[in-house]
Amino acid sequence: MRVLNFGSLNIDYVYPVDHIIIPGETEPTGEVTTNCGGKGLNQSIALAKAGVEVYHAGLIGEEGQLLADKLAENGVDTSHVRCIPGRSGHTIIQVDKNGQNSILLFGGANRKLTHDIIDETLSDFGEGDILLLQNEVNLLDVIIDKAFEARMKIILNPSPYDTAIQKCDLSKVSVFILNEIEGEQMTGQKEPDKILNAIKKSYPETETVLTLGSAGAVYQNREERHSCGICRVKPVDTTAAGDTFTGYFISAMIDALSPEEGLKLASKASAIAVTRNGAADSIPEREEVLGSGLDPEPMRLL
Ligand code: RIB
Repeated sequence: MRVLNFGSLNIDYVYPVDHIIIPGETEPTGEVTTNCGGKGLNQSIALAKAGVEVYHAGLIGEEGQLLADKLAENGVDTSHVRCIPGRSGHTIIQVDKNGQNSILLFGGANRKLTHDIIDETLSDFGEGDILLLQNEVNLLDVIIDKAFEARMKIILNPSPYDTAIQKCDLSKVSVFILNEIEGEQMTGQKEPDKILNAIKKSYPETETVLTLGSAGAVYQNREERHSCGICRVKPVDTTAAGDTFTGYFISAMIDALSPEEGLKLASKASAIAVTRNGAADSIPEREEVLGSGLDPEPMRLL
């Protein structure tokens, strides 16, 4: 099964800081590093490292060739990545001494998709293919409508959550993968149980994976729920942990693993990612995940 990931590609400028800066404060940083990232790029690389056939579609600016090269080096098809005039997407990321981050996002080329580009890209895909989306590109609602017409299976990571998501017909989405903050923004509910109930009420046919940070993750479909705790590791940098989880969970779906097995695989992969600096480069290969000896803690079912 092929996955088309229509998503962002960002140059991440990462600054180690003592603590995440507060309004009005000036804080010196450690050495800046330049990494390949973007939720789209990270998720494509996670999928490829997990063994999935993945095609990335998106836009880079004049200084963004390193992003396409990074995808290609990792086995992602880049024939639908286009270079346009102007700047690539980029981020300014603060990472504090506990590995926690805070991200400023400049959309750049990521936000210059057109109807023609979407049509041309989707014309190479159809029934039996998966479309993966996040919310760092423009025209998300249009991509969802056209992919649904083309009978693709749509998986949405509504991150970051904003009004662009509210414009989308989410009943066309087959799987949501989101964290509890996005879950609250989407449903108005704070408790994981209530978030999941609200999603099921609005979208009864949609499968949902709700990640809960250090508490683990929960999978839900119409009939059942399964949960999984995290693997205890010492975090260095949490950037791309969620993207790693997403890529590995989708790979498990494609391999027809059970939801419990999918949650465990994704939990192990993201635990490894948080022990390393950077975004795309922190994502482990499948063999490393399988041979890691990591074992997620059980989580009480919600
Ligand atoms: O999910 C992590 C990613 O979010 C970073 O690589 C950064 O580019 C932002 O888009």
